[in-house]
Amino acid sequence: MQIVKTSETLSQALAKQTAIAFVPTMGNLHAGHIQLVELAKTKNACVVVSIFVNPLQFAANEDLSKYPRTLDVDLAKLKAAGADIVFTPSEQEIYPDFDASTNNTHQSISINLPSIANELCGAARPGHFSGMATVVLKLFNLVFFNGAQTKIAIFGKKDFQQLFIIRDMVKQFNLPIEIMAADTKREEDGLAMSSRNGYLTPAQKLEAPRLYSELSLLVDAIKQGNTDFKALEARSTECLTQLGWIVDYISVRSAQTLLPATQNDNKLVVLGAARQGTTRLIDNIEFNLTA
Ligand code: PAJ
Repeated sequence: MQIVKTSETLSQALAKQTAIAFVPTMGNLHAGHIQLVELAKTKNACVVVSIFVNPLQFAANEDLSKYPRTLDVDLAKLKAAGADIVFTPSEQEIYPDFDASTNNTHQSISINLPSIANELCGAARPGHFSGMATVVLKLFNLVFFNGAQTKIAIFGKKDFQQLFIIRDMVKQFNLPIEIMAADTKREEDGLAMSSRNGYLTPAQKLEAPRLYSELSLLVDAIKQGNTDFKALEARSTECLTQLGWIVDYISVRSAQTLLPATQNDNKLVVLGAARQGTTRLIDNIEFNLTA
């Protein structure tokens, strides 16, 4: 496994590759990330993983400075998983005008996203998805511009809205990249694995799986024929709030458009974001109404 810090070395390392399967991450890797690497490994391609905590997708009040950075352990996990190249760029490498004293990227050109990026997680995190899409496009440029014919990038369904936006970006910018999605990897108690789970206190960790169980109850209710989505969203929000959660949103959406679900949609997704203390957890369940 080759560890590469600069775009120049990355370009040299990838020069002769004809097929690349790329997994972008922010590190602090868990089994959910490794599952993406395992999917990449099945593609008969050079498996490239990036580890980069992207300042542009964190707002000033968010957890950029305390985001867990565990590079040595991450590298050991990636080696065991069989990654070929790990790209660990500095902020200056990705943002040429980066100012380390203020963490300002000075990225004056960024991606203008459709209004769906201001809903759900985008409502609580203004600018987050634009910063995310901007760095993903930069990483795509660095990883795929070397001429490999087969270009695959792999994302997790855990970040459903992120995956939706990336797919849209690839389509609308005519990028010749195949986007693949992996299912959400969960703890045995149902909690979706996340680097942010490490922020939870033991008591919060016990409560945390309830976000998934509440979404599951909502899905069951819809499958049983209850299509009063607004009432179901309100009921789940109320349940979680009474148990001490601070709910950002619980929302039933079309899995195809991510717009609020209507009675005519049969590919649905229920998404939720809620806080335990200061830790914000997200989850979703995608399902079909017709068998
Ligand atoms: P990060 O949170 O590190 O996640 C990297 C990838 O792992 C994403 O595609 C995410 O959806 C996936 N992932 C995380 N937890 C997962 C789980 N429990 N099961 C399956 N997949 C999971 O998402 C980002 O980083 C960043 O926004 C990034 C795309 C790297 C851009 O900075």
